[in-house]
Amino acid sequence: MQRTMYSVAELRQAIDRLPRVHLAAVLPTPLEEAPRLSDALGGPPIFFKRDDLTGLAFGGNKTRHLEFILGDVLQKGADTVITGASVQSNFCRQTAAACAKLGLRCILYLNGAADSERQGNLLLDHLSGADVRLVQVRQLPDLTTLCEQAAEEERKAGYNPVAVDLWRGIASLGSVSYVDCALELKAQLEELGLLRASIYLSSATATQGGLALAARALGLEWDIVGISPIRTDLVPAEVVANLANEAAQYLKLDFKVAAADIVNVEDYIGPGYALPTAESREALELAASTEGIILDPVYTAKAMAGLIDHIRAGKLDPSQPVIFLHTGGTPALFAFNQWFAQSQ
Ligand SMILES: Cc1ncc(COP(=O)(O)O)c(C=O)c1O
Repeated sequence: MQRTMYSVAELRQAIDRLPRVHLAAVLPTPLEEAPRLSDALGGPPIFFKRDDLTGLAFGGNKTRHLEFILGDVLQKGADTVITGASVQSNFCRQTAAACAKLGLRCILYLNGAADSERQGNLLLDHLSGADVRLVQVRQLPDLTTLCEQAAEEERKAGYNPVAVDLWRGIASLGSVSYVDCALELKAQLEELGLLRASIYLSSATATQGGLALAARALGLEWDIVGISPIRTDLVPAEVVANLANEAAQYLKLDFKVAAADIVNVEDYIGPGYALPTAESREALELAASTEGIILDPVYTAKAMAGLIDHIRAGKLDPSQPVIFLHTGGTPALFAFNQWFAQSQ
């Protein structure tokens, strides 16, 4: 029979047994109250968990992920990291920066036009010295095949590569890193005397899986609401639960998260992934103009648009604090300057 509960000390020990490299500039990240945003919305107290401040080429949730992913890569004796995602991928930008810092080679397959402007994350990928390969695929998981083929070629050339697929395997170490973040957040909330909280975040894969795993394993009274930036043929809740369960295996926890435990809302995507909406623009402008906090158009602004809508629709208890996990992504904003100019 599986265990029903773990203690903070047990999770801490399980995390500390895994290989990890130091990449974050600031941990724990601050938990900041946002009273002006809350007043503007007439809503519950809102706190930002500032994972946009983790550092490593402008920060974000991937700094945490990469501490464990690259810890594992280094332990395997690898010298080359190959991964792929969209042209303005934050994961790729931070992987390129982390590889530069650790002296690893980095190959990126980015889904985008060959003449994509070197702005935002793409500019930073080049600055970090990554081997950037622009390709066009129908959907992001198709990049997996390209990364595996490249790994084969690198092996033939005498290198020792690791291909990182965002949907499974080593990527679940990203969920491990968010079990760690959950322990951090739990301590910060306890300091404020808060036991119950709603947690909103932009969610596609590993981050929510880690939070859900920790919350369920510790029996926390957290409502975790993931707002999806992407429509996918894959069932998001199952992808997230699978990553959480692979993370549980890394941590040697006799514990499983079910897809039914994952709340993933697909109502705020708009016309598609990485396409801004009027609601996400309002969210971006409101966070910036009330709190001086900058969101990004692809992920966090859509998650904030979801939170704003849920507050306005009266879905949240006004006395229960809401934590908005700011997962970063801000460099992508600069690749959207034309959209902002045109829709003034
Ligand atoms: C800024 C930002 N927020 C949220 C996410 C979603 O993170 P995850 O895939 O771990 O759910 C990403 C993923 O790329 C991201 O770049």
